Amino acid sequence: MTDLIAVPARKPARPQFSSGPCAKPPGYSPEKLATESLGRSHRAKIGKTRLAYAIDLMREVLQLPDTHRIGIVPGSDTGAFEMAMWTMLGARGVTTVAWESFGEGWVTDAAKQLKLDPTVIRADYGQLPDLTQIDFGTDVLFTWNGTTSGVRVPNADFIPADREGLTFADATSAVFAYDIDWSKIDVATFSWQKVLGGEGGHGVLILGPRAVERLETYTPAWPLPKVFRLVSKGKLAEGVFKGETINTPSMLAVEDAIFALEWAKGLGGLEGLQARSDANAAALSKIVAERDWLGHLAIDEATRSKTSVCLTVEGADADFIKKFAALLEKQDAAYDVAGYRDAPAGLRIWCGATVDTQDIEDLGPWLDWAYATVKAA
Ligand SMILES: Cc1ncc(COP(=O)(O)O)c(C=O)c1O
Repeated sequence: MTDLIAVPARKPARPQFSSGPCAKPPGYSPEKLATESLGRSHRAKIGKTRLAYAIDLMREVLQLPDTHRIGIVPGSDTGAFEMAMWTMLGARGVTTVAWESFGEGWVTDAAKQLKLDPTVIRADYGQLPDLTQIDFGTDVLFTWNGTTSGVRVPNADFIPADREGLTFADATSAVFAYDIDWSKIDVATFSWQKVLGGEGGHGVLILGPRAVERLETYTPAWPLPKVFRLVSKGKLAEGVFKGETINTPSMLAVEDAIFALEWAKGLGGLEGLQARSDANAAALSKIVAERDWLGHLAIDEATRSKTSVCLTVEGADADFIKKFAALLEKQDAAYDVAGYRDAPAGLRIWCGATVDTQDIEDLGPWLDWAYATVKAA
């Protein structure tokens, strides 16, 4: 397969395959966004109404039970997850479970910033650690879908219902793509720019009742910046979960998220989003199965991501992948398909709901073309 092959005739209509920010919803255009809330105070009636509407839509599309609160916070997914770590950790032991770069980031912060001496359970890229080793008497931090390795937890069955510690799930590339048993999740975070194809900037923080109890009964030993403060006079700041944000949000990003959530609702909500992601992942798996030079980084199919699908390329090093991705970008056939900088050299192709399956199918011949072209060079 080192001979040059012809440039494929048909390009993916939307070459946006980045794993974050991800493709906008099909049919998106900025002109379609509602703009009445722009240029106004976010605390005016219109602003608060739109923020509350975004929260209601997220609850509906996520099928989030009434037991859990959902709020919009600063700093994207990182902001939301750090806010949870800094406000709730330290009350008991901590276990961090990591199998790729973002999970490792939470290990670093628990160990080096909060100095909590966490128990760390790790696996290499492509694998899931042994989840039976987790002590749920401790607070447990994990990433539901490891965006940089394409390995995810298959479900929440590894979490006991009668756990003593809290579970913290960084679910940014997982929500809206998988079924989540919310009774097993005390804290979850995500940002809009993944499965919804929204804009960066804001994080979404989901709190179960046990997390709220922790917030109201425990005060960390360290100081908390204002943007992390969720408690006022010993009580949860309930306003945050009704659209009264801690500080000024981007109403443009909020309107953009509302567009995506209304699109999701129109598809049939969670099931509609999942069906699209499943079809995309299946189309990409077919492409992989038909090529002996492509493989999945995630070894076990049950742990293979349906959103951030990471692929191995036979004989490829970082330089090969750089050239491969640059060729596809130059042709406007595929943008941002190189794997994450800390991951083993390979490809990463977003299969979340905003991507059209036809575009994944049309990508196959372009991967062949780029592979042959780089090999022949
Ligand atoms: C699993 C995971 N956690 C955290 C982040 C960081 O997200 P953000 O840029 O929204 O803070 C990402 C971004 O790709 C991610 O995939």
